[in-house]
Amino acid sequence: MEKAINSPFRYAGGKFYARHLILEHIPSHSVYLEPFAGGGSIFFAKNKVRQNWLNDADPELINTYLMIQNNPEKLINALSDEVATKERHAWYKNEFKPQNALEQAVRWYYLNRTSYSGIMNPKNCYWGYGDKYSMRPENWGRNILRTSQKLQGVQITCLDFETVLEQVEDDAFLFIDPPYFNADQDKFYSYSFVYDDHIRLSKALKQHQHRIKFLLTYDNSPEIRIMYDWANEIHDKEWNYTINRTDDQKLTQDLKNGIITQKKVQKQTRSKGKEIFILNYTSQQNELFSMYDSQEQFF
Ligand SMILES: C[S@@+](CC[C@H](N)C(=O)[O-])C[C@H]1O[C@@H](n2cnc3c(N)ncnc32)[C@H](O)[C@@H]1O
Repeated sequence: MEKAINSPFRYAGGKFYARHLILEHIPSHSVYLEPFAGGGSIFFAKNKVRQNWLNDADPELINTYLMIQNNPEKLINALSDEVATKERHAWYKNEFKPQNALEQAVRWYYLNRTSYSGIMNPKNCYWGYGDKYSMRPENWGRNILRTSQKLQGVQITCLDFETVLEQVEDDAFLFIDPPYFNADQDKFYSYSFVYDDHIRLSKALKQHQHRIKFLLTYDNSPEIRIMYDWANEIHDKEWNYTINRTDDQKLTQDLKNGIITQKKVQKQTRSKGKEIFILNYTSQQNELFSMYDSQEQFF
C-alpha cells in the first residue's frame, strides 16, 4: 500500500484543501482514472489500486510527470544547483529555450515551484516564492523522489478527456475535475475549456454512466445543475483554504513597512472553496461523514 503524499506541484484549482471531503465519497474500486489530472491532489492523497491512470491535455505538465516517473535522478541532478531567485525565474520564463524533454521538465518544475500560486500560463506567470513558506530548492529532490515512487506503474497520458473516457475499463472509478464553468480559465491553464467542452463532457459522461462510476467537481452554477439533472447525487460543499499571500509582493511590503499586521495578513489569506460534487452513484458516506456536508472546514 502506498502512503498518501502531497501533489508534487502547485496547481491553480488544485483540490488539496478539499481532499478529505472528496476521499470520503470515493467508493471502493480497482481501476482509477483522473481525466483532468492537473496537480493530481486526489491521486496522491489516496491509495493506489490495481490500475491507476492520470491524464491531462497539457503536454508540458505530462512531460514533467513522465520525467519524474522515469528519470527522477536526471531531473534532480539538473536542478541540484538551483537557487530560487527572481533573476532565475525571469531567465527560465523569458530566455531559456529547452532543447529536449529533460530541459523542458527542468524549466516547468522550476517555474511551477517559484511562480505565484503555481500559475504556469505565460500571461500570468509571476515570481511568487517566499523562503519561509515555499518548498526550498534543497527539498525539491526529495519531493521528486517520493513522487516518482508513487508514480511507478501509473499510466500517464496527454489526451483529450473524451478519448480516455472511451478507453477506460468498465467499473472504473473516475475523479473528474474539469476547469470551472464560470471562471476565466485562460488565466490559469494553457488549454482553455469552452462552453462546448462542458457540453461535450456532460454528454460523454451520460453515455458512459452505466459502465463507470464518477465523482465530478464543479463550481456551483444553475447551468451545470441542469446539465447533470440525470446524476444520482449533487452535494453542495464548502471548505476553507489559505492562500500563501507571502507570495503577494504588496502584502509582504506592507507588512515590512508596518502598514498592516501579521494578523491582518492571515485574515486576508483565508478563502472559501464552494463547489458541487456530482455523483452517478449512491455514496456510502456514513453518518459521521455526512455531517460534514456544507459545513466542513479544513485548513
Ligand atoms: C481544475 S484543473 C485540475 C486540478 C487537479 N484536480 C488538482 O487537484 O490539481 C483542470 C485541468 O484540466 C486540464 N484540461 C483542460 N482541457 C482538457 C481536455 N480537453 N482534456 C483533458 N484535460 C484538460 C487542464 O490542463 C488542467 O490541468
